[in-house]
Amino acid sequence: MKYDSVIVGALETNCYLVYCQKTLECAIIDPGAEPEKILRLIAHKGLKPVVLINTHGHVDHVGANRDIKDRFDIPLCIHRADSPMLESVLQSELSFFLGAKESPPPDKFLEEGDEIQIGNISLSVIHTPGHSPGSVSLLSDAVLFSGDTLFYGGVGRTDLPGGSWVELERVIREKIFTLPEDTVVLPGHGPTTTISQETKFNPFIQ
Ligand SMILES: [Fe+2]
Repeated sequence: MKYDSVIVGALETNCYLVYCQKTLECAIIDPGAEPEKILRLIAHKGLKPVVLINTHGHVDHVGANRDIKDRFDIPLCIHRADSPMLESVLQSELSFFLGAKESPPPDKFLEEGDEIQIGNISLSVIHTPGHSPGSVSLLSDAVLFSGDTLFYGGVGRTDLPGGSWVELERVIREKIFTLPEDTVVLPGHGPTTTISQETKFNPFIQ
């Protein structure tokens, strides 16, 4: 499994390209804004997108779904619980500020335990509600794409609609901090971290 990333939009979302080195097939995770930047990286690497995944439905993670789908006819995947957010992308001032476009509807709902095949690699879906009810994290080898659930030294906010601190804390303790210590964590915003680093030093979950 290989990955690359590009930071997009005013909220500096990490958009990840996860790919199979052999077939160059790739997943696009969280195209939040600035589709041209994402498309440029895909072209530069010679990647062939096969799936578009939203770790959750917030506008800064889905704002470029439309442009990506227009360019590549690939399935859009999101957890069912966050799928209604795709229909209301344009209902906030933030969307306007971020230059988000209305998202196409999802093609497939992600569920706990799903395996998404990308060439010779696969991403396992872990349902990690708390930041939003349909937040998911994606695990491949020893790398976790944590969306806005866990950050370097931080956690996702829980004060937005459908958020829950109780759930977020439980999910991080039970489903994320139980992963092997050397698992690399790639969050939806900010720098990369590891499970070891966060279990020892994350001030929010101790
Ligand atoms: Fe978010």
